[in-house]
Amino acid sequence: MSALVTTAPAWSIPDYLEVRNDRLVINSVDAVSLVAQHGSPLFVFSEPRIRANIVRLQQAAAAVERPIKFCYASKANSNMSVLRAVLDAGIDIEVNSGGELYKALRIGFRPEQIIFNGTSKTDDEIDDAVRAGIYSINVDSIYEIELVEESVRRLRQSNPNTSPARVALRLVPEIGTRSHLGLQTALLTSKFGISSSDVLSAFRRGLQHPDLLHVCGIHIHVGSQTPDVEPFAAAFKSMWEHLVAIQRETGHTLEHINLGGGIPVNYLRDSSQADQLPEHEREMLGADLEPSVVLKEALRIARESARAAAAEHLLDQITILLEPGRSIISDAGTLLTTVRNIKSRPETGDVWLLTDAGYNLLLSMNNYKWYYHLISASRPTCQTDAEYKVAGPLCDSGDVYFDIEREGRLPDYRRLPTDVKPGEVLALLNAGAYSLAQMFPYNGRPLPAAVMVRGDGTSDLIRRRDTYEDLLQGDIW
Ligand SMILES: Cc1ncc(COP(=O)(O)O)c(C=O)c1O
Repeated sequence: MSALVTTAPAWSIPDYLEVRNDRLVINSVDAVSLVAQHGSPLFVFSEPRIRANIVRLQQAAAAVERPIKFCYASKANSNMSVLRAVLDAGIDIEVNSGGELYKALRIGFRPEQIIFNGTSKTDDEIDDAVRAGIYSINVDSIYEIELVEESVRRLRQSNPNTSPARVALRLVPEIGTRSHLGLQTALLTSKFGISSSDVLSAFRRGLQHPDLLHVCGIHIHVGSQTPDVEPFAAAFKSMWEHLVAIQRETGHTLEHINLGGGIPVNYLRDSSQADQLPEHEREMLGADLEPSVVLKEALRIARESARAAAAEHLLDQITILLEPGRSIISDAGTLLTTVRNIKSRPETGDVWLLTDAGYNLLLSMNNYKWYYHLISASRPTCQTDAEYKVAGPLCDSGDVYFDIEREGRLPDYRRLPTDVKPGEVLALLNAGAYSLAQMFPYNGRPLPAAVMVRGDGTSDLIRRRDTYEDLLQGDIW
């Protein structure tokens, strides 16, 4: 039997993710009881934590004395109850497809609260955004400017009152970050945005038909989980300098600068397994970058440049947008999973725990070998003095909680209490972002339920568990 730990575990978050009476509680709600009630695996979200994460961003805006327009990146998690919590917390939304636009409008975001990114928008998606009259369609190429103009013309045939579409131009200024390459989006080798050499001609093109388009902003997203302030500051400076140049060259003043998302989340609050990770992974996954630091540094650098260009009045007028996803929803979500099988491998001396949560629920664990800290929800105070190989249920050798390719991007073993047995409930922490939104029913595994815990200690089902019948939806035979 493992000894009990008496201090608060490093992964705990006061008043949210805690141990009470030797049980894992999420806003006072017992995690294991939730599994007993709703089944396993189970996503558990916390409305108070979503709100607290948003308040932290709003406080960062207050610290720089600027009204910032926060547009929650709904790709991180677009469950309707999550969207409602974000809406109720008083911020706006970023969407990346017609589907996310539809969900945003359905839950009640007003068109002026919505911005729309995407590299490959269809005519129908653009029509939906133009028809709704959203705050900004962020165009990703010069070609796409034409598509938006065509959409306005097309819609005016049935509704002559269709307003000019508001558009921002997304740039790709060659700014690297210390995140995974697949999460870096401001490199010239990435698929996103308009190159610096094309920026001026792109804006000139966008300004050609003011009756069709209103060019309102400029956008750079440097990438997700960006651990340092410098890429944000460089992106802001780049946009600011383009804004001044565009104003000088064309007389047109942009209304907003959009610094994208990417505020990192500390996935290694409990760093007890971090010694097994390479240093760059540790620094990226364990980043603790305050949003206020990002905003202060971006504005400081832009102010220097504005002073030199005698354009401070312009800087004071612009609206700043941020598109936070992960930093709002990641640590507000926990994935509870049950050990279903156990085996020992005498040849290697390993004990294997087989859970019911595979990479079909946490795609990043496979795509990026993303680290989610694993604890026992049944025995959260027990010392983690045993090492296990942990794997999910999918019929794929890659469905494991370690780096099958032996590149060391995940710990080889997970540390849990001794004597874990089938039936024990485990919890994967920080699992709220890019999980539910990316899950898929591989191997005919019905997608799990999700609950939202409220501030008053109650919880609501916010996604019902799929049935076998759901697996047939869409098939024709
Ligand atoms: C354009 C854009 N904005 C915002 C985000 C959200 O990033 P994050 O979840 O890291 O805040 C993303 C995701 O990478 C993105 O592609």
